[in-house]
Amino acid sequence: MTSRNEVTQVKDYGAVLERVTTAIREAADGRRAMAAAVGVLKGEVPDYSWVGVYLLDGNELVLGPFVGKPSPHTRIPLGRGICGAAATEKTTIIVDDVNADPRYLACSIETRSEIVVPIMAGAEVLGEIDIDSDRQAAFGAEDKRLLEAVAAQLAPRIMESR
Ligand code: SME
Repeated sequence: MTSRNEVTQVKDYGAVLERVTTAIREAADGRRAMAAAVGVLKGEVPDYSWVGVYLLDGNELVLGPFVGKPSPHTRIPLGRGICGAAATEKTTIIVDDVNADPRYLACSIETRSEIVVPIMAGAEVLGEIDIDSDRQAAFGAEDKRLLEAVAAQLAPRIMESR
C-alpha cells in the first residue's frame, strides 16, 4: 500500500496554479477554459489519472471536458455518487479509498482515490471538478487548495458562456 508521503509528486503547486491560470485566461470561451484547465492539470500532476468537469443541468451533472478514459457516467443525478454528494453538500469531498465508500460510482477499475470540488457562483452550484487517482489517498490539502482556486477561476468563465 502507498501513502501520500512516500511519493512527493508535485513540488510546486504554485507553479501548477500559474499554468492553469494562464490557460484559463487565454481561452476564448468557457468551454475552452474548462478543456484547457483539465488538460493542464492532467499534464502537470502525475497522480491525476482522470480529470474532468461536470456541469449542473437541472438535477443532473453532465460530463463536460475531460482527459482520461471515457467514463460510463456521463449524466449523474444529484443524489448519486461522490459527484452528486459534493454538489448537494456544496463542499469539496476527498475519498482516500473509493472501494470503501458506498457512494462511489466506479469509472475505472484502477481508481483508488478521488477528489470532487464544486464550482460555485455565490451559493449556486455551476458544476464541479472531478479527479480520480490510481493511487490510494493521493489527494491532500494542497490538492484541495489548488483545485478550489481553479474552480473559482472557472466559475466566471462558465457564467459568461451561458
Ligand atoms: N466516481 C464518481 C463518478 C464519476 S467517474 O469517477 C468519472 C462518483 O462516484 O460520483
